[in-house]
Amino acid sequence: MKLYQIKNLTYSYPGTQKEIVKNIHFDVEEGEIFGLLGRSGAGKSTTQKILVRLLRDFKGEIFYKGKDLKSYGNAFYEDVGVGFEMPVHFNKLTAKENLVYFSKLYKSKADLDSLLTQVGLYDYRNQNVGEFSKGMKVRLNFIRALINNPKLLFLDEVTNGLDPGNAKNIKKMIADFRKGGGTVFLTTHLMNDVEELCDRVAFLSEGKIVETNTPRQLKLKYGRRTIKIEYRGKDGLKEKVFGLDGLGKNSEFIQLITEQPIETAHTGETSLEEIFIQLIGDKL
Ligand SMILES: Nc1ncnc2c1ncn2[C@@H]1O[C@H](COP(=O)(O)OP(=O)(O)OP(=O)(O)O)[C@@H](O)[C@H]1O
Ligand SMILES: [Mg+2]
Repeated sequence: MKLYQIKNLTYSYPGTQKEIVKNIHFDVEEGEIFGLLGRSGAGKSTTQKILVRLLRDFKGEIFYKGKDLKSYGNAFYEDVGVGFEMPVHFNKLTAKENLVYFSKLYKSKADLDSLLTQVGLYDYRNQNVGEFSKGMKVRLNFIRALINNPKLLFLDEVTNGLDPGNAKNIKKMIADFRKGGGTVFLTTHLMNDVEELCDRVAFLSEGKIVETNTPRQLKLKYGRRTIKIEYRGKDGLKEKVFGLDGLGKNSEFIQLITEQPIETAHTGETSLEEIFIQLIGDKL
């Protein structure tokens, strides 16, 4: 089922002329992890804020569960958990007090101690958040999105600023949330996160969606499978890269492997990072 349908979405911030999001279309399927990718300033966070109804003055149509998003009352927020880009906490309250405060806004209440334990913050639950490190704030921000047992999670760069162990743990929690039937909409710059988590991704470039696809199809469409041969030439170690397609008929390749002493052979494929740059450029 299509959980979200976004049609002809266009948005300018109040009092400004510039269209930040320009006539975009995409769907989010129930039970998938959907990634919105794009360079800094492309409009990812703006799009997420529109989808969670923080920014309301948009043009176009957004349907949630087949009904106009604008027709929902506060019940919509019971379904949704949001992890914002910049962690916002009450610094003078403890971690637990922060969670309790926000938990009161919802009918459904998750087990807060269990959430704190899952991200390694249980032992720090009674410490003021003002004394937390950046990574601790990021982890607290993530579990705050889960306090109401949401069906749909919006996560804006949620692993930013985490060490690899904590990032891995949070990615596992996201994957488990999906396994339990949840849907995830995430924005990120980190292609590793995309490869590990996303079922589908959309690339946003200057407010427009330039491609929506599965990571696998993206690789088939834009990628190139290759083999890199290292061989010992007259003047030292050399390498050559060949495309895998038609390799058996590639005379240069055949000549190389029959005439030269081969040291290593490695197959490879275009990374999502390279496809990202191919699709939306690398200019700053
Ligand atoms: N409150 C605001 N008022 C006016 N313009 C804004 C506002 N917030 C964001 N913008 C502009 O909208 C554009 C898109 O910003 P947005 O935060 O959506 O980008 P992003 O893709 O999330 O970037 P990043 O990867 O850096 O987080 C930028 O040009 C930004 O300056
Ligand atoms: Mg952003």
